[in-house]
Amino acid sequence: MESHYPFTLPPLPYAYDALEPELDGRLIHFHHDKHFAAYVDRLDRILAQAPAYQSWSLEQLCTDWPSLPCAIRQDVRNNAGGVYNHDLYFRTLHPLPVTSPGVALRAAIQRDFGGTPELKAAMRSAALAQFGSGWAWLTEDCDGRLAVCRTPNQDTPLPLQPLLGCDVWEHAYYLQYQDRRGDYFDAWWRLIDWPEISQRYEQYLSQRPHYPDP
Ligand SMILES: [Fe+2]
Repeated sequence: MESHYPFTLPPLPYAYDALEPELDGRLIHFHHDKHFAAYVDRLDRILAQAPAYQSWSLEQLCTDWPSLPCAIRQDVRNNAGGVYNHDLYFRTLHPLPVTSPGVALRAAIQRDFGGTPELKAAMRSAALAQFGSGWAWLTEDCDGRLAVCRTPNQDTPLPLQPLLGCDVWEHAYYLQYQDRRGDYFDAWWRLIDWPEISQRYEQYLSQRPHYPDP
C-alpha cells in the first residue's frame, strides 16, 4: 500500500475463491473489488481537492483527522480508516493457513490471555458485541501488551498497533452467512495467517525503544 496520496487498490494476494469454503469467491470479490476499492477511490477524490494533505501518510490521516478542515474531516476519517483496515484484513488471511502463532507471539498470547483459545473467545465476544458496523481487533500497546478491542464504523485502533482485525460490517459476511455473524467469525478465524501476524508482532517489538533498567 502506498504511504500517501495517490492510493491504489492493492491486488488481492490470492484468488477470489482461494478462501473457500470459509469465505466464498463472490463474497471476497464484492468485498475487495467493490467495497475496499470504493474506500480507496473516495479517499483519493477527497485528497485531490485538498493538496495540503496529499503528503500525509495513511496512518497520519487515520490518527490526525480531527485537525483537518471541517469540510473533509469526517470523510477522511471514514475513508482513510476503510483503506487502512481493509488493507490489513486481506493481508492477514491465507488459503493454507498455519494454525498457530510464532514463538514470541504465542508467549505474549499466553501471558495476556492465558492461551490461543482464550484469545479466540475474547475476539469472538468483541465481534459479536459490536453494535452495527465495525471491527474487532487484536492490538499491541506501547508496553508490548496485547489487548482485544472493537471500533465502530471504519475507525482504526491506532495509535494501538493492530495485529489482526475482524471486519464485522455486514458486507463482510452477509452474502454467505446472512445474520450468523458468529459462524462468519469462526470461519474467518480458521483463515488467519499466523506467520504474517507473528511477523507484524515481532516488527513492532523491534521498533519499540528500549529503555535501560533503572
Ligand atoms: Fe469490509
